[in-house]
Amino acid sequence: MTENNVLVIGSGGREHALCWKLADSPFVKQIYCAPGSVGISQIKKVESVELNIKDYPALAKWCKEHTIDLVIVGPEDPLADGIVDGLTAHGIACFGPTKDGAQIEADKDYAKKFMTKYQLPTARYQSFTDAAAAKEFINNAPYPALVVKAAGLAAGKGVVVATSKEEACQAVDEMLTDSKFGAAGETIVVEEVLEGDEVSVLAFTDGETVSMMPPAQDHKRIGDGDTGPNTGGMGAYCPCPLITPDQLADVKDQVLQRAVDGLKAEGIKYVGVLYAGLMVTKSGPMVLEFNCRFGDPETQVLMTLLESDLYTIMKACVDGTLKQHQVQWNTKLSAVGVVIASKGYPETSTKGCVISGLSQVQSNPGIVVFHSGVSRGANGSLVTWGGRVLLVCARANSLRAAAAAATAAASAIDFPGAQYRKDIAHRAFSNMQGQ
Ligand code: AMP
Ligand code: GLY
Repeated sequence: MTENNVLVIGSGGREHALCWKLADSPFVKQIYCAPGSVGISQIKKVESVELNIKDYPALAKWCKEHTIDLVIVGPEDPLADGIVDGLTAHGIACFGPTKDGAQIEADKDYAKKFMTKYQLPTARYQSFTDAAAAKEFINNAPYPALVVKAAGLAAGKGVVVATSKEEACQAVDEMLTDSKFGAAGETIVVEEVLEGDEVSVLAFTDGETVSMMPPAQDHKRIGDGDTGPNTGGMGAYCPCPLITPDQLADVKDQVLQRAVDGLKAEGIKYVGVLYAGLMVTKSGPMVLEFNCRFGDPETQVLMTLLESDLYTIMKACVDGTLKQHQVQWNTKLSAVGVVIASKGYPETSTKGCVISGLSQVQSNPGIVVFHSGVSRGANGSLVTWGGRVLLVCARANSLRAAAAAATAAASAIDFPGAQYRKDIAHRAFSNMQGQ
């Protein structure tokens, strides 16, 4: 059996889940993760390493010295900065799109123009750099143009879904006049409000073939019942029943394959994960956004349902041979992930609180715990180290059983000020009742 070394870039729960799954592969000998985390280092075969991921020649040299045959990039920032271009120029294979490909996430104006050109279903919109023109449009648009988005990367905070024209105009001023998001908000997209259920559909691609993952749903708001401010995501579950098999088939053809084909027509061979953030409206799924990478926390639940060898799939994407592979998912189980966040999140976060109850929860074979923001404290204890601290994922043969198990596991983990939602997957349950 061939033995390969891989380097995973990132340190969050998503990268923890990727390392956890990669470690299962008989084809992987050693996993390095930069910068990694305490939890990531606990996985067999994995070593966390400190590397300057912006110095591409030095990073490529390190990869050669450590016989890395695949670099897997977790977050969007390094992709948008061109890490894949920088490393492939030195002969290092990367799972992730080039800088041009990453624009699909990093530049919402580009993404909207692209979707219009290739006729992907998405909300009506106009882009602006001038505040007066944007406000005039909001006040006179023939549809509710109340969603204001900074075109650039703003760590998930650059979107305002306003409930009135005044509020939308205020968001325009904050972005274009007050430069709230700096260069990321120099161009804005003003978009029609869509209504429906949000679903995340991710796909592996080698730039030609698209292999769709089962649908998942994130929970952006901090509070039960989807209340309170937006967060990086307080939980996720998979499969999500809020999109039908027919709609998924359309998403595969009319969104994911069409996007990959369109990118190819633009001269971009898109390799890696293409993530479509969808609103399932009354007239069908519409694209809210594309991400150029795995989602967090969706990846944590998805990886627990992936039956195929992750390394083999990623290598097939890089080698352009995805067509020859059938990616297998566990279709009998459901997975629910509950995020435990620190006190004050999302506005602030608390560091250094000792986490208790973890080993008891981890001894349950139905539960997997992924670290998002955990560090090592005095006496070897684990302490909180960021806004989102942990995600506990439960698998069971029904969504309800998985949700109950994940919520129970979250309640057994404690630290001062811990907050978690007790209603992950609630929209799926309301939908099931309606049937
Ligand atoms: P985005 O980063 O573009 O996905 O936007 C962040 C969040 O804003 C999404 O997850 C949605 O909850 C919301 N959102 C974005 N666009 C729209 C839209 N056109 N209509 C309603 N909600 C939206
Ligand atoms: N779950 C949303 C994201 O990864 O952007």
